Amino acid sequence: MKAIAVIPGKPGSVHLAELPKPNINEIPNGRGVLVRVLRVGVDGTDKEINAAEYGAAPSGYDFLVIGHESFGIVEEVGKNVTELVPGDYVTATVRRPGGSIYDKIGKYDTTTDDNYFEHGINLLHGFLTEYYVEDPEYLVKVPRGLKEYGVLLEPTSVIEKGIAQAYEIQRRLRVWHPKRAAVLGAGTIGLLAAMALRLRGMQVHVFGRTRAPYLNSDLIGQIGAHYHTTDEINIMQGAEKHGPFDIIFEATGFSPIAFEAMNCLGKNGVLVLSSVTGGDRKVEVPADMINLGFVLGNKVVVGTVNANREYFEMGVKDLSHAEHEWPGWISNFLTHPVKGLENYKELMNTLTNAKGAIKVFCEVAPIN
Ligand code: BGC
Ligand code: ZN
Repeated sequence: MKAIAVIPGKPGSVHLAELPKPNINEIPNGRGVLVRVLRVGVDGTDKEINAAEYGAAPSGYDFLVIGHESFGIVEEVGKNVTELVPGDYVTATVRRPGGSIYDKIGKYDTTTDDNYFEHGINLLHGFLTEYYVEDPEYLVKVPRGLKEYGVLLEPTSVIEKGIAQAYEIQRRLRVWHPKRAAVLGAGTIGLLAAMALRLRGMQVHVFGRTRAPYLNSDLIGQIGAHYHTTDEINIMQGAEKHGPFDIIFEATGFSPIAFEAMNCLGKNGVLVLSSVTGGDRKVEVPADMINLGFVLGNKVVVGTVNANREYFEMGVKDLSHAEHEWPGWISNFLTHPVKGLENYKELMNTLTNAKGAIKVFCEVAPIN
C-alpha cells in the first residue's frame, strides 16, 4: 500500500513510500482493529518535519510516514475487540505510552520521558497511508453525523486538553466563573479554542494579525465572538477595553506573545500556552511588572501539548455541540482538500503556500 513519507534529517524529502498492508494479528490477544484511512489533515508540524527540523523514523526504517490528524473506518476487528465493529468511524490518538508513571495511567500526553512516541512525528509511522492496525485503546469513535469533520478531531483534542487543564487548575479557587476569554491567533487552533470557549458561555475576544474582514474573522463573528486586528488594537489595549481576561489561550506560534499575555491576564486568571516554538528567539520583557502581577494577582500559566483519549472524547462532544448550535459552521474549516496519496506534492505545496487555508487535508479514500 502507498504512504506519504519523509527521510528524517533530509529537508524536502517528502515522497511516496510502499508498505505492506497491515493485519489485525500484529496486535496481541485478538485486540487488533484494521482501519481504512479516509482523510488525514496536515499542519505546521508536518511542514516542519518535511523541513527536517525534527521527526524520527521508527526503528528499522530510514523513512517516517507522516500524518497525525486521522479519520478512518473500521474494516475488521480481532475476536477480543468489544468496543468497535466494522463500519464504525474512528480517529486515532497520536502519542503512545512510554515508561513514566503518567504513561502507565493513560496520561501519556503528560509523559516525563525525554523520548516520546508520536504517530507521524516521532519514532512511529503516521496515518498518511491506506490502512493501519491499532489497539482500540487508542481509537476514538466518531459519530456518523460528524463524519465530514472527523479530520478536525485531533486539533480539537489539543484545544480541549488546554481548556480542561485550565478548569482543572482553577479548582484551586473553589469558585471560578470565567466570563471573558482572549484567544491569541485566529488559525485552526485559535478558531477551535474560540468555539470551545463560546460553548462554555464566555465572551470571547480573538486577536489576529490579518485585517478583518476575512474568512476567519467572519467565522469568529458567526459564533458571537469578537475579532480584533492587532495592528489596530494590541492585546494590552484589548485587555483594558474588553477585559479583565479570566483565561487567555495562546495559539499564535510566536513566543514573545506569551509574555505580553502574562502582562495582561486578569487577577486569578489562567494563561494557556500551546505554541510549539522550535527557534531560539530572545526578547526583553518587563520582568518586574509581570512577576508582580502574577504574585499579587494569584495568576497561573500552563503549557499544554498533545492529548489523550479523554480529550478526543471531549472534542467529539464539543464538535457535536457546535454543529447543533451553529449548523454548518464547522464545515467552513475544510478549505483545502487534496485528493489521493499520490498527490503528496500538491498536499505539501498547499500546506506551505495556500492563502487563507484553515484545514488542508488529504482525501485518501471517499467517505460513504
Ligand atoms: C500535534 C500533537 C503533538 C505535537 C508535538 C502537534 O502538531 O498535534 O499531537 O503532540 O505536535 O509533536
Ligand atoms: Zn498537529
